[in-house]
Amino acid sequence: MKRLVFVGPGRIGEAVRASFESEDYTITVLSRREYGNFLSPDFAPEAAVATLTACDAVIFFAGLFELNAPEARMEQANCGAIRRLAEAIHARFPQAQVITFLDARIHRTLESLPEAVRAYVKSKQTLAQWTLEAASDWGKSTGARVNAIAPGPVLPPPNKQHSEKAGDCLTPRPTPADVAAALKFLLHTPSVTGQVLYVAAGQQLL
Ligand SMILES: NC(=O)c1ccc[n+]([C@@H]2O[C@H](COP(=O)([O-])OP(=O)(O)OC[C@H]3O[C@@H](n4cnc5c(N)ncnc54)[C@H](OP(=O)(O)O)[C@@H]3O)[C@@H](O)[C@H]2O)c1
Repeated sequence: MKRLVFVGPGRIGEAVRASFESEDYTITVLSRREYGNFLSPDFAPEAAVATLTACDAVIFFAGLFELNAPEARMEQANCGAIRRLAEAIHARFPQAQVITFLDARIHRTLESLPEAVRAYVKSKQTLAQWTLEAASDWGKSTGARVNAIAPGPVLPPPNKQHSEKAGDCLTPRPTPADVAAALKFLLHTPSVTGQVLYVAAGQQLL
């Protein structure tokens, strides 16, 4: 479980990378440059996936957070695109473990959330549902494990226009080191599949 593919590592992926490299993991990065703009109507990740030569596990950091975003835009960015990339990687590496990135608010009803984040959270809920379905389907067909991390407020959004209050926490805020530890737990615990691991300072309980 040492040959990892980081899809759209962004800030959290880049922040955890050194921790993996210091433990002799080999990391292949698939960034937007290779897999393309997943909001574009002609998004087709297959050519980028075909360049991969090895993959024990793929980690989908890629995602998009925007306030007041149209539902279709969030759905395409945070679920449709990730699903298509995951399916292409699974077709090439049928046993590779898959880890998706959700959000600690996925367990909330949309009505209980500020209107501005509903489309984003809904898209992560759909990705959560897909993650569990893939864990069941691929677990039965190839033994691939599929899990998710649901982060709380690790880093503020890159675009200040889309900043929101971090919210109350029950512990210190989660750090990239916490995310790295959670990823390593999922990577190296062979009986764990279909799991959503909250790295969220207890925000999922509030
Ligand atoms: N940061 C947090 O505290 C937090 C909290 C809850 C959930 N999450 C989730 O955790 C994951 C990682 O978070 P992060 O803060 O590290 O994310 P990030 O820095 O915003 O990185 C997102 C990644 O997605 C790629 N991306 C964005 N729009 C794209 C597009 N239209 N087409 C193709 N690629 C695109 C970015 O590519 P470029 O680098 O080329 O722009 C980047 O690699 C995300 O899925 C996020 O939703 C994060």
